[in-house]
Amino acid sequence: MIVSILDKLDNAWLIIVAVIIMTNSLAVLCNYPPLLNQAEALALQLQIPLLVDQSADTIDSAEFVVLIAQESIQLQQTGRKAPGPVLAEFTEGAVDHRRKFGGGKGQMIAKAVGIKSGVYPRVLDATAGLGKDSFVLASLGCEVTMIERSPVVQSLLADGLLRAQTFAREQDAELLQTINRMQLVMHDSRTYLYSLSADQFPDVIYLDPMFPERQKTADVKKEMAAFHHIVGKDEDADALLPLALAHVNYRVIVKRPRKAPLLNNQTPSYQLEGKSSRYDIYTVKKLPDVLPPAR
Ligand SMILES: C[S@@+](CC[C@H](N)C(=O)[O-])C[C@H]1O[C@@H](n2cnc3c(N)ncnc32)[C@H](O)[C@@H]1O
Repeated sequence: MIVSILDKLDNAWLIIVAVIIMTNSLAVLCNYPPLLNQAEALALQLQIPLLVDQSADTIDSAEFVVLIAQESIQLQQTGRKAPGPVLAEFTEGAVDHRRKFGGGKGQMIAKAVGIKSGVYPRVLDATAGLGKDSFVLASLGCEVTMIERSPVVQSLLADGLLRAQTFAREQDAELLQTINRMQLVMHDSRTYLYSLSADQFPDVIYLDPMFPERQKTADVKKEMAAFHHIVGKDEDADALLPLALAHVNYRVIVKRPRKAPLLNNQTPSYQLEGKSSRYDIYTVKKLPDVLPPAR
């Protein structure tokens, strides 16, 4: 896995992030002294307070903390009745179960992207979040570049990838291959896409921007509530679709809640519908019959 930082966030974006963060009442909490430098750097980047060695239950100066602990980096709501932490997790739980027993290339996401035997498109996930969808695609053999613009979400995702890589090096060669196919780019997709020359276009661009009402399972609800608090509603998401269509080789996939309106009000080439979500597929060109995994 290569975690690359293309370049620093530009000033305008830093100001927007700072405003969102201030409204959200967020702090960094470091409970593991060897990582204090990292905690200080994040607090400085986000212009938010740094708290040290406290329990999130008892903090009342911030509604959420980015908790930097020995085991992981987590987004944690404060207070006694807060739900559990949100973190990027690739070695256990639902994501790991799906990798092992989730239906492989038969999954709707695989069909949407066009993965089949001999066809492994290079995917750009322009709204990476906690990397769950990217992980599914990488576990099926695709190289995935993940773009994430929220510094908090970037920290969670980079931490999850590093922990998974450390675990996999010792215990799971197949997982290591999957993680090595995932590259995190800390950037805004709009500027990232503009920077690509035609020979750098990905085969498929995957979009899953925030949407106010999503699936209602307890886990998704908890994660989405925390996400909404930190990254807002991705109000600028419509602009991503035409941009993606202009910077891709074969197709753009948009994941939406099943009943949600079309992104940018644009009619897709076709749709795949599941129980709670659907994939809108915008075809630019037919995928070839052979597309080897690493080119
Ligand atoms: C709903 S989440 C994606 C969840 C992801 N598909 C997963 O499986 O974990 C949307 C994410 O996209 C990010 N995002 C939205 N617009 C973006 C943009 N223009 N550039 C980079 N990241 C963006 C948000 O910060 C948020 O973390």
